[in-house]
Amino acid sequence: MTIITPNYLYLNNKFQENLAVAFDKKIQAIDSLEKLQKQYPEAKIEEQQPNSVLYPGFINTHVHLEFSKNRTTLKYGSFMPWLDSVIKNREELIGACDNNVMMSACKQMLDSGVTTFGAISSFGTELEVCTQTPQKVIFFNELIGSQAVTADMLYADFLERLAESKNCANSGIIPAIAIHSPYSVHPIVLQRAVSLAKKERLPISSHFLESQAEREWLESDKGDFLEFFEKFFSTSRAVTTIDEFMHSFNQVPTHFTHAVQATKEELAFLGNKGHSIAHCPRSNRLLGCGRLAIETLIENDMSFTTATDGLSSNNTLSILDELRAALMLHHLAPLEKLASLLIKSITSNPAEIFALNSGKIEVGKDADFALVSLPDKPSSLESIALQTILHVHKVDKLYIGGDKVL
Ligand code: BEZ
Ligand code: FE2
Repeated sequence: MTIITPNYLYLNNKFQENLAVAFDKKIQAIDSLEKLQKQYPEAKIEEQQPNSVLYPGFINTHVHLEFSKNRTTLKYGSFMPWLDSVIKNREELIGACDNNVMMSACKQMLDSGVTTFGAISSFGTELEVCTQTPQKVIFFNELIGSQAVTADMLYADFLERLAESKNCANSGIIPAIAIHSPYSVHPIVLQRAVSLAKKERLPISSHFLESQAEREWLESDKGDFLEFFEKFFSTSRAVTTIDEFMHSFNQVPTHFTHAVQATKEELAFLGNKGHSIAHCPRSNRLLGCGRLAIETLIENDMSFTTATDGLSSNNTLSILDELRAALMLHHLAPLEKLASLLIKSITSNPAEIFALNSGKIEVGKDADFALVSLPDKPSSLESIALQTILHVHKVDKLYIGGDKVL
């Protein structure tokens, strides 16, 4: 048994003083240090830096490890030139992305306090690294393929990758399904994948309404995607509409990534169906996609997570860098309230969305912790979320399932 005694403890979305946590693989008790020492006289006491704050381990719900080799290759600024640059450089970037590159991407996340992440996997090449990294991984096998002629073949490939990830369930892998997007997945195989998620209770996620070009294509078969689909697929018709795509998920709560171009009505519809949103502010900025109306999610009490996306559309995989960007991007939101919601978006929200036994400091939860320290004493308990986001670049200590990994 170990007892950790932070200055401040993040408990029920608030901060409290004079509390300690006793844990082995799971959290066993939360009380004053004195009482815990009496209860567990043999326990090892962990000393902390001044102004320390104990959080549950952070959860980054959306990352593409396979693109971790990109630094300066891909073209940023707007979506279609970026997608063209991905297609042009894909083979080279993925070919150069060996296990060492992907492991250092996982390490970047560890340093920023991430104890669980959602890996969106196109090819399955990161599965081995995901079994080796200390983090828990929701392994989202991605389904792609808009063309009817190749859909069955691509679906079979997706099922094979899914089966391989199921074989790794003992190494911290949670098998899951990702739908690439409304424009790139044929409705027939989409329906099969959604039914599979429902039947096997697999987590499911999908990119959705990321760019203006996507919206225009799905609404009117026009815009930048018309040229793209004519060139690569000799087609001038989208395979689905926004409404049809959203309705495909009616029975299965889904984590929709981006939704920057969704209307208020569409967001309300998704919220009413029990879906949630992954917000990737830096990716959206770099690909010229716009700003997610986070205030609409807040008004509708819709659950959202904040995530980094991959290094194909970001400069770092630090979840704390991502929260700093979100804090600045949503410049009209009340500051301390936004900071508090952002901390929730990488702790209890993703844990609830994906039914993880983590994301909260609570008896019985896994002992996943990110211990950080502020540079000085915070002026109030209410300011700690904000001051954490502003000042913390690297965690002091990190625990996963009670093991100290940093
Ligand atoms: C497809 O496989 O159909 C596809 C992939 C990427 C972008 C658009 C379509
Ligand atoms: Fe993504």
